[in-house]
Amino acid sequence: MSTTIPLVDLAAQHEEVADEVAAGWARVVEAATFVGGEEVEAFEEELARFWGVAHAVGVGSGTDALEMVLRAACIGPGDEVVVPANSFVASAAVVARVGATPVFVDVDPVHLHLDVDALAERLGPATAAVMPVHLFGELAPLEDVAAVTEGRRILIVEDAAQAQGATRHGQASGRVGLAAATSFYPGKNLGAYGDAGAVLTNRSELAERVRLLGNHGSATRYEHRSLGFNSRLDPLQAVVLRAKLTRLDQWNEARRTAARRYDELLGDLPGVQLPATREGNEHVWHLYVVRMAERDRVLARLHREGVAAGIHYPVPLHLQGAFRALGHRTGDFPVAEASAARMLSLPLHPYITPDQQERIADLLRQEVS
Ligand SMILES: Cc1ncc(COP(=O)(O)O)c(C=O)c1O
Repeated sequence: MSTTIPLVDLAAQHEEVADEVAAGWARVVEAATFVGGEEVEAFEEELARFWGVAHAVGVGSGTDALEMVLRAACIGPGDEVVVPANSFVASAAVVARVGATPVFVDVDPVHLHLDVDALAERLGPATAAVMPVHLFGELAPLEDVAAVTEGRRILIVEDAAQAQGATRHGQASGRVGLAAATSFYPGKNLGAYGDAGAVLTNRSELAERVRLLGNHGSATRYEHRSLGFNSRLDPLQAVVLRAKLTRLDQWNEARRTAARRYDELLGDLPGVQLPATREGNEHVWHLYVVRMAERDRVLARLHREGVAAGIHYPVPLHLQGAFRALGHRTGDFPVAEASAARMLSLPLHPYITPDQQERIADLLRQEVS
């Protein structure tokens, strides 16, 4: 496939921030502070302010951010953590990595977030945490999750990898739950130039523990209070993220405009289910995911025409080989399975043009009409 319409356009985005990034990288090189330092501290402060939480702790990736929250909360062997069946593998992998057991639940048929009724049924004495995933750029119904877990010693750990700038009833992730973890993987709404992530929380003690964990369990050089690992935000990435953060609201607004345009262009296509926004949510459209029965044929046509559409995600987590030991089989989570067969992520990013979107809509129309 020679791509004419990319899924995301990182080159165009780089052009906007190139001068700031070059100047910032020169500052880092001149100061020769290649771990930690002013750029990282400044970014953490700016991110916490943007997010509306007391603490942002930069780490090496979104996956590490999730794992470190679980470890900081002392979740481990014997504990269960409830995870939605449709997500990126990291949401559940971190649970297994800390020695706990991922317990999958199905997703709701409209927004594909963790189904709160299914969650209520799966809570048990070993449930230590629930991980709502703010999939595709909108927040899961946290107040419903909180209502179901209320009065029990169950933590809410939010996977906000895809929800940078998203709010529910005016508030970002990481406030209802113990903490939120986000990813700055390059294609995210706020993406670094490599791997990076952060933990967002109002809990000072949790933020402090995550910081210790990511720095070999050490607050003072060569004194190690606990076993940790090495997962710190790189100052060169902090420079990129600082430059991009000042533009994130504007980029998210451009994504909303593009999503509305798809809604208009695709609204009358037979058999195509458009994504819906949950009431009370400000969506940031990390992905624009339609659903249709002829998905594979349509995707093949888009690829032949140079349109880099994708699938998020083609195999639900309970059917992944990595979780074979849990003993799930096809049919266990029908909504996640049906959506995996029907979902199609259309290119959407701040630089997509109306012409490109019309071209994509035309191709879809030809295939489904
Ligand atoms: C929902 C979700 N969770 C977790 C992650 C893991 O983040 P990272 O790739 O930065 O480790 C990602 C992104 O890749 C994601 O989309």
